[in-house]
Amino acid sequence: MSKKQLYSITALFDSPDAIINAASETSKAGYTKYDVNTPYPVHGMDGAMQLKPSRLGYFAMAFGLLGAVSAIGFMTWVTLVEYPLVIGGKPFWSWPAFVPVSFELTVLLASVLSIVAMIVIYFKFPNNAHPLHDTKYMKAVSSDKFGINIQANDPKFDEKVITEFFKSLGSKDIAPIYFDDEELQHGQKLFDPKFIGILLLVAIISSGATYLIFNQLMFMPPFNWMMTQEKLKAQKPSELFADGIGMRKPVEGTVARGILPYPFKGQPDSAGKYLVNPSLPTKEVLETGKQKYLTFCSPCHGNFGQGDSRLRGQFPNPPTLHSDKVRNWPDGNIYHVITEGQNVMPSYAPQIARDDRWAIIHYLRALQRAQNAKESDLK
Ligand code: HEC
Repeated sequence: MSKKQLYSITALFDSPDAIINAASETSKAGYTKYDVNTPYPVHGMDGAMQLKPSRLGYFAMAFGLLGAVSAIGFMTWVTLVEYPLVIGGKPFWSWPAFVPVSFELTVLLASVLSIVAMIVIYFKFPNNAHPLHDTKYMKAVSSDKFGINIQANDPKFDEKVITEFFKSLGSKDIAPIYFDDEELQHGQKLFDPKFIGILLLVAIISSGATYLIFNQLMFMPPFNWMMTQEKLKAQKPSELFADGIGMRKPVEGTVARGILPYPFKGQPDSAGKYLVNPSLPTKEVLETGKQKYLTFCSPCHGNFGQGDSRLRGQFPNPPTLHSDKVRNWPDGNIYHVITEGQNVMPSYAPQIARDDRWAIIHYLRALQRAQNAKESDLK
């Protein structure tokens, strides 16, 4: 059998003024274990109840200091010990940069941890049991009444005296509150196995769901991080072709789009004989030629083709392009050297488009003429 125990004597009032009066009379009468419940915060209640300032402020202070110390300490450790970096020539320990972070962490810890402390220490979370819950009194004070209750563990507690006292204050609704000691345990329940179990269950379910989503679901088509793509990769097999080889040789006797095969592979003399520069040395073509020459040829051949390489011996210096040999070459021979390369000079076919190669040759001819001007050029 459970035993009913007296928790408090409650009294209801109709107006905020009446409850303020009741509260200040109660505290003047010397009661200490009492509380007031109102539907909304009533101004002046702290004074009427003679409440001391809340001790939560000390927690906020401690947590704020913790935030400031950990922010400054961490940044000090990082900038002085773990990863000292010179940033903009400033000293390693450059405190103005720490102000925003320290401020933010101070505010963050002070506010968040104060609320956690309030809920856990003062409200005894996760225990939410209270004798006043589910009583007529609580229903009244959470709609339109103003209530006060003096608890049975007050040193001056006397049921008759308090009932008379409340009557004298003008309350018409005075009632005792009982609670069942066995049913209602309002101790700390933070380490209650049930609560820990629920926490563990939530942790397991949420981490399991996260694992399944990010490691399983996201790897199923169609959202598999684009790991399977309908395309051929170089050097990889392909099931599309009967021989299972992904890389294909061009079909014999065909020419791929946009590609003009070079017919004089390994035949510089034929190139010189049969190839003709298809463009004219207009101003635009010479400009293009100059630009391409300076980009692709000048590092080795020098800005004016004299073989004065800028590569400082990292690559063999080429011969001058003003030799009689090159000057007397037909354009096709030079085109052949650019396209196929010559000895250590590599091919520039992949980098320089056909028309640009011819433009370079026009520019090279202009350079040669500038070095070997004839009488007729001056006219
Ligand atoms: C990486 C350096 C390098 C670059 C860039 C380079 N060349 Fe050459 N080039 C050489 C070397 C070295 C030789 C000499 C090759 C040999 O030993 O036959 C040479 C040879 C030549 C020859 C033949 C000269 C001769 O007397 O046989 C021509 C013409 C020529 N280059 C033109 C060009 C043109 C035009 C470009 C720009 C598209 C170019 N080169 C870019 C290094 C370079």
